[in-house]
Amino acid sequence: MGETPTETGDIQDRELTPRQRVEEGQYERSLRPRRLGEYIGQDRVKASLGIFIEAAKARAEPLDHVLLHGPPGLGKTTLASIIATEMGVSLRITSGPAVERQGDLVSILTNLKPNDVLFIDEIHRLNRVVEEVLYSAMEDFAVDIILGKGPAARTMRINLPRFTLVGATTRLALLTGPLRDRFGSQLRLDFYALEAMEEIVVRSADVLQVPISDEGALAVARRSRGTPRVANRLLKRVRDYVEVRGQGIITPELAADALTMLEIDELGLDDIDRRILHVIVDKFGGGPVGIDTLAAAISEETDTLMDVYEPYLIQLGFLQRTPRGRTATRGAYQHLGLQPPMIEPAQHLLFEQP
Ligand SMILES: Nc1ncnc2c1ncn2[C@@H]1O[C@H](COP(=O)(O)OP(=O)(O)OP(=O)(O)O)[C@@H](O)[C@H]1O
Ligand SMILES: [Mg+2]
Repeated sequence: MGETPTETGDIQDRELTPRQRVEEGQYERSLRPRRLGEYIGQDRVKASLGIFIEAAKARAEPLDHVLLHGPPGLGKTTLASIIATEMGVSLRITSGPAVERQGDLVSILTNLKPNDVLFIDEIHRLNRVVEEVLYSAMEDFAVDIILGKGPAARTMRINLPRFTLVGATTRLALLTGPLRDRFGSQLRLDFYALEAMEEIVVRSADVLQVPISDEGALAVARRSRGTPRVANRLLKRVRDYVEVRGQGIITPELAADALTMLEIDELGLDDIDRRILHVIVDKFGGGPVGIDTLAAAISEETDTLMDVYEPYLIQLGFLQRTPRGRTATRGAYQHLGLQPPMIEPAQHLLFEQP
């Protein structure tokens, strides 16, 4: 069963060889903050969690179930492990797709120790029968299993230790109501502000013992799409570049050169981001275009498009989700160095309707 943290799901991941992937995994773990105090940014989430944890500890009870949601690479897995550390309990990690049958989940649950944290990543991908087991486990700390078949079948209730479920998802909308309602708190992670990203880059450079100037850190932070995982990855690439081409210290010029070589522009957009915008503009007259059509046009999966690329383009104000599909904004045209149309594409289409 998938008990190792899933640390993929990011843009550049798919270009890596298996060996590089292992190295990246180790690198990620060493960079991961361990305590709440070390976790940079997300002040709202940190403040809430800090209070919940303190209160639960004072009552000597497990923390209420927590649902973390937000785009990939913002620190959901990191927070789950921080919660366990702060509560002084063990962490069990699995993921939605890894738990295939009810029995898999029952065996995980019955092996928990009192107050343990169970982390289920990609919880929106749990199948319905497994999810049903989770309902009573979360609510009553018990599971009902069916013994035998047909008229002779009977149910047996197994009591579980009290535990904390931490669920993570990049797609809150795909979670069923009953599952969502069973979480005592739901915390949304947002893209990080530039100042927080700068701090993360400085901290990571320190962990990696790579010298970096303040302006160098700012240059890397600016191109990291408000995402710590991206910052860490870019930092590593820039470090390689600087070791070969520079004097070993990351300056803004070297950072810019290295990232331009990787086709990452000054806003952190990569080749695929730009292709998405170009396709909407060039092939679909600025939109609206349906998400599946768009995915097919750039040969990406719809899910990847929605989870990985869209949130940041929307955050930048380059892309809009409308009921009739995706549209490119004036900002997108300008970023691509194109002349925006006289009227916003979406409005223009509204006028055409009978
Ligand atoms: N607040 C933070 N401060 C410093 N580093 C952070 C912070 N949040 C995340 N990181 C770094 O970013 C990396 C990615 O974080 P993490 O794996 O927790 O993201 P995630 O939200 O679980 O992503 P996914 O949705 O893809 O599973 C971690 O290795 C960690 O080093
Ligand atoms: Mg994760």
